[in-house]
Amino acid sequence: MPHPVISWEHEAPVPNDYQFNDFLCNHDGRLYYEDLDLTQLLIAGRKDQGMGHTLSSPLEVVYLPKVRQKVTQLRGIFAEAAQALGYTGQFHYAYASKANTAEEVVQVALEAGAHYEMSSQVDTVIAQMMQAAGQLPEGRMVIANGFKPAGSSYARSLVRMKQVHDNLIPVLEDLVELAPFIESGVPFDVGLRLKCYGHRNHGTKTPVDAGNSRFGLTVEDLTKAADIIAAAPTLNLKLFHAMIGSQIASEHEFVSALKPAIDLYARLRQRHSTLHIFDFGGGVPAPMTLNFHFDYVEFAHLLMTSLLESCGHYNVPVPDIMGEMGRYTTTEHGVHCFKVLMVKNNGSTLPWYIIDGSIMTSFPDVWALGEHFIVLPLNHLDRPFQRVQLGGLTCDSDDIYPPKMSLSPLYLPVETKDLYIGFFSVGAYQEMLGGVRGSKHCMLPEACELVVDRNGSGAYQFHTIPGQTANDVLRNLGYPVS
Ligand SMILES: Cc1ncc(COP(=O)(O)O)c(C=O)c1O
Repeated sequence: MPHPVISWEHEAPVPNDYQFNDFLCNHDGRLYYEDLDLTQLLIAGRKDQGMGHTLSSPLEVVYLPKVRQKVTQLRGIFAEAAQALGYTGQFHYAYASKANTAEEVVQVALEAGAHYEMSSQVDTVIAQMMQAAGQLPEGRMVIANGFKPAGSSYARSLVRMKQVHDNLIPVLEDLVELAPFIESGVPFDVGLRLKCYGHRNHGTKTPVDAGNSRFGLTVEDLTKAADIIAAAPTLNLKLFHAMIGSQIASEHEFVSALKPAIDLYARLRQRHSTLHIFDFGGGVPAPMTLNFHFDYVEFAHLLMTSLLESCGHYNVPVPDIMGEMGRYTTTEHGVHCFKVLMVKNNGSTLPWYIIDGSIMTSFPDVWALGEHFIVLPLNHLDRPFQRVQLGGLTCDSDDIYPPKMSLSPLYLPVETKDLYIGFFSVGAYQEMLGGVRGSKHCMLPEACELVVDRNGSGAYQFHTIPGQTANDVLRNLGYPVS
């Protein structure tokens, strides 16, 4: 297995106009995100691209055009695959808001045409706010995943929300979740979620529901739930949900792992003609490193082919396809910039570049899961590089990058005067897991955030959300500050 490539792995400077991926490029020693010179956000005296001032680091950059692009691209890929294969079902792109629930991200995903996938009671409030603001039109589906047993505030909120947004589909993942919707007497389209069986279990003789997972219904319970729904006068079984895992890095593995669920869909469709959406959930991977490869076109083709085969075999119509894209939608729009404050050469294996923030609290997946993200300098790309390690400002031995046990080398410029670096592809889950506006490890205040968008003619527009002050941090912790 090749190691994840997270940086420029050479001592030589980066060639001018070198393209690291589809949005990061070196121009004259500075890193650009599409057309945006990231260094001018932080260092005065550079050509200003419309902000009128500089910001101090650490700085979070939220690049909204990327979110729009991701929604549009995948919808286009599925539309083309459907045309090429004569697939008559539609593709529904839902945004899984748990990946990043910031208002501007949800707004842009919806504006780009996404349906909304939610997971908790507070999410119902967000969806209703979007609906009131005209950002969630009537035709958009709201898919309600997550546990919602009888008596839960989530189940109650969904019943209330149905009065406001009719196109709401609770996805039930336990028999006990049926009661609140049946008893409400309100007409509901519903979905049923098959127990997650994990993409590594396919191809074995193991029954699909033998995996160790708390999500979804066993095949037996799912069949039972479908019959209960068919007998309930107010419920209509519309959607079959089968999420098999997260970040599945091979399109072939992904689709062959879905095969048992696809067959089950087709068999269930024979008994329940109201079913017409096959929802594969999340799991679509996104580029978090520089050597990531996943062929989305091939994935769409393989998935539709598999559905055509199974539905043909069981003689049922092909379903609409739904994907609940969280990571795919938001990974690449998030950037976190830091300044290298000092270099510490203390006889460790590699020089320590100490940055002005925390890796640990900004990107919890690094220390919790050993996850990799792209790290590149924002300036000095035209200078020699050396292999280094990064240290965060907290006192924690895990506040480092690359993660412990990683085989990926990290190279940064030898020149560290006014050196800024960026962590890229950090837009999914990191902020939600690390918490927004809390008080964090060693009380490091949260960074300022810069929301970047482009207007109709492509010019950049900027909106700044101030970071935390020391008083904000202290107030959270109960100190009497004004
Ligand atoms: C039910 C459901 N749908 C969608 C997602 C989003 O997954 P991803 O971020 O891999 O797209 C998740 C993630 O946990 C999930 O649990």
